[in-house]
Amino acid sequence: MPLRWRDAMDRALYGPDGFFVGGAGPAGHFRTSAHASPAFAAAVFRLVSRLDAALGFPAPFDLVDVGAGRGELLVALATLADEAAGSSLSSRLRLTAVELAPRPTDLPPAIDWTTEAPTGITGLLTATEWLDNVPLDVAVPTEDGWRYQLVDPHTGEETSGPPLTREDLTWLTRWHPTTAPAPTITGLGERVEVGRGRDLAWSGVVARVSRGMALGVDYGHLRGARPAAGTLTGYRGGRQVPPVPDGSCDVTAHVAMDSVAAAGERVAGCAYTLMSQREALRALGADGGRPPLSLAGTDPAGYLRALAAASAVAELTDPAGLGGHWWLLQPVGVAVDALMAR
Ligand SMILES: C[S@@+](CC[C@H](N)C(=O)[O-])C[C@H]1O[C@@H](n2cnc3c(N)ncnc32)[C@H](O)[C@@H]1O
Repeated sequence: MPLRWRDAMDRALYGPDGFFVGGAGPAGHFRTSAHASPAFAAAVFRLVSRLDAALGFPAPFDLVDVGAGRGELLVALATLADEAAGSSLSSRLRLTAVELAPRPTDLPPAIDWTTEAPTGITGLLTATEWLDNVPLDVAVPTEDGWRYQLVDPHTGEETSGPPLTREDLTWLTRWHPTTAPAPTITGLGERVEVGRGRDLAWSGVVARVSRGMALGVDYGHLRGARPAAGTLTGYRGGRQVPPVPDGSCDVTAHVAMDSVAAAGERVAGCAYTLMSQREALRALGADGGRPPLSLAGTDPAGYLRALAAASAVAELTDPAGLGGHWWLLQPVGVAVDALMAR
């Protein structure tokens, strides 16, 4: 039976035997920043250290990762804290992975594993490539107004469904203004991915932060530059595939970052900052610059290490790839400027 995309995605990704709750986990199917390079965790750790100081070295300092995959980022951050000389952070860390997938058997016991973000967080809440997997509806213009697209979960075939609810229509008018619907050629091919559920998801986790910051990292777009035909797609085994919501592949769509940001800001009562990953990593000291050639003569091993580190950062900062992802920094009771100063 055809379903609204939001329901089809929800079932395909998180239902019994859903794509994310069984199988190899995200790392088995696509490359996120968290998997691509340890330089990502190192940059986030620099932010953690600065935030820790700005918050006055609280005990505990919460590190909460929403959509934690298999816990890779939290494990890397905990290791960096253990290795940080002269810092008490490691002994004050409280680590929580928020995930719908089952807890990996080899996860360190210090990491709590839960399906709901805790309340009263003092510290950093991260959500890397989570929002693009929060289910959403697709709307298309028809001669009698905007309607939801329905999808057959087995074949991916689409048909036109009921009219949009008032709430979704309001979101669309505010965040995805288009020339459609008009019963003309202009409306043909236009698809709007309705991000209201993502706004609610993000503001819901921002509300769990009492003091500190929520950091969302994702691919996305801003009003005025939304892709007219939408971005919904699938991934399986490292390859892009048609987004058939049958549980055999990831189904993802870019995030309306400005809409999500505005929703978080309303809850936090503090202005958000939105920047590219490239800019963010530079601000956190990962600039991807090559080491000076002269180092090769004096310290060949050090030169090779620095070269490897530079190329790892280069993948994260490539503007045509991961570097084009957005960093949404939502402070709660702290100032972003000092934390992201170069
Ligand atoms: C694309 S993966 C990203 C994993 C990891 N953060 C990374 O960057 O590699 C998205 C993850 O979010 C999880 N997820 C989606 N919705 C969730 C929810 N409401 N609560 C907890 N986890 C969720 C999925 O199970 C999946 O593991």
